[in-house]
Amino acid sequence: FLIQLAILPACFAQHPNEAAVDYHLPDVLRTQSGKEINTVADWEKIRRPEVIALFEKNVQGKTPVKNIPLRFVPLSVSHNALNGTATRKQVRVYFSRNEKYYMDILLYLPKNKPVPVFVGLNFGGNQVVNADTGILISKRWVKYATEPAYKNHLGTAASRGVQSNDWCVEKIIAAGYGVATVYYGDLQPDSVNSVNAGVAPLFYTKGQKEPAADEWGAIGVWAWGLSRALDYMETDGDIDAKKVIVMGHSRLGKTALWAGAQDQRFAMVISNNSGEGGAAITRRKYGETIAVMNKAFPHWFCGNFKKYNDKEDELPVDFHELIALIAPRPVYIASASQDQWADPLGEYLSGWYATPVYALYGLKGLSTPVPLGISQPVGDGVIGYHLRKGEHAITPYDWDQYIRFANRFFNK
Ligand code: GCU
Repeated sequence: FLIQLAILPACFAQHPNEAAVDYHLPDVLRTQSGKEINTVADWEKIRRPEVIALFEKNVQGKTPVKNIPLRFVPLSVSHNALNGTATRKQVRVYFSRNEKYYMDILLYLPKNKPVPVFVGLNFGGNQVVNADTGILISKRWVKYATEPAYKNHLGTAASRGVQSNDWCVEKIIAAGYGVATVYYGDLQPDSVNSVNAGVAPLFYTKGQKEPAADEWGAIGVWAWGLSRALDYMETDGDIDAKKVIVMGHSRLGKTALWAGAQDQRFAMVISNNSGEGGAAITRRKYGETIAVMNKAFPHWFCGNFKKYNDKEDELPVDFHELIALIAPRPVYIASASQDQWADPLGEYLSGWYATPVYALYGLKGLSTPVPLGISQPVGDGVIGYHLRKGEHAITPYDWDQYIRFANRFFNK
């Protein structure tokens, strides 16, 4: 699996000893018992369920199978949002009769209904995505909370629009897409030992106090919330629920990939700088590693994932297989040149090593193991990729590429 270093663009920083980095990836098209997979039918019936089960058991943990009755309560609607260009809706989704279990969906929809929609979780409460004063300020605890936008980890009016550059709502609306977002802390606070402050207890069996070692962590809980947002969208006639694109940045990019892998109703998946536990090949051991991530964020993945601290090569899957689970649906992976922590080359390579699964469907993935350089997006196949110049972030440049890629599939 060594790539030809001589022709690798310099912007993809390498291990100091890249030439010595050798690793053996699990073959996405070979079952654990050694059967070679070469038809779509065998992929879908045999290998895909096997790969999903391996991720469930060892990485993100199983999402409990329990039908939670949802209650959708409209909180507000304005047909005149964003200078009359969009409809804004806010919908509260209750997960239980106990009203502390809810998430709020904020939607902006352009006038060309029914519309395709980008859906993603946000980091700071719905009010951060736009300065629109009609957005209800979240009352939930926020992890990264600096004053004056937050006081005691709760959003203030000064938090309105503080992440509007990450969301580019006006740009997305102008392109004819809707935006739907939910604050990830509505589902589970992003902190160690907070599992019982999220929705997980709704799924416990009698006497259970925390998820078992092979049951979900926070990433699984957050991904579950994205699917529940899609449940709502399926009931909203203004939305084309067959064209819902799930996206996320960083830890929420790891979440978007897992949501898209499990829930095949998502029509396209976008990973923005998702890195370790997301798009990056973990066996490269470049940038963040499993041990480092599990130490800093033990609540993200399942208990069993800790077994692979410093033992990447023993993990029965690698993250190209997470990308492969999205096939045949379009997937876009984005990296940033100064985000070496997320291993841009490893993120690209997972698209490359997922390509054989797309090929089974007769679809084009990535055409070479050697990525192009900065600001040269690849998006003529069903796997898109770009390396943006700059830091770990989601920016207007990233959104321009996502919109352009989505346009190819959703005929805009
Ligand atoms: C940390 C963490 C990453 C994660 C990132 C983020 O840097 O190590 O794994 O992707 O936070 O979510 O911003």
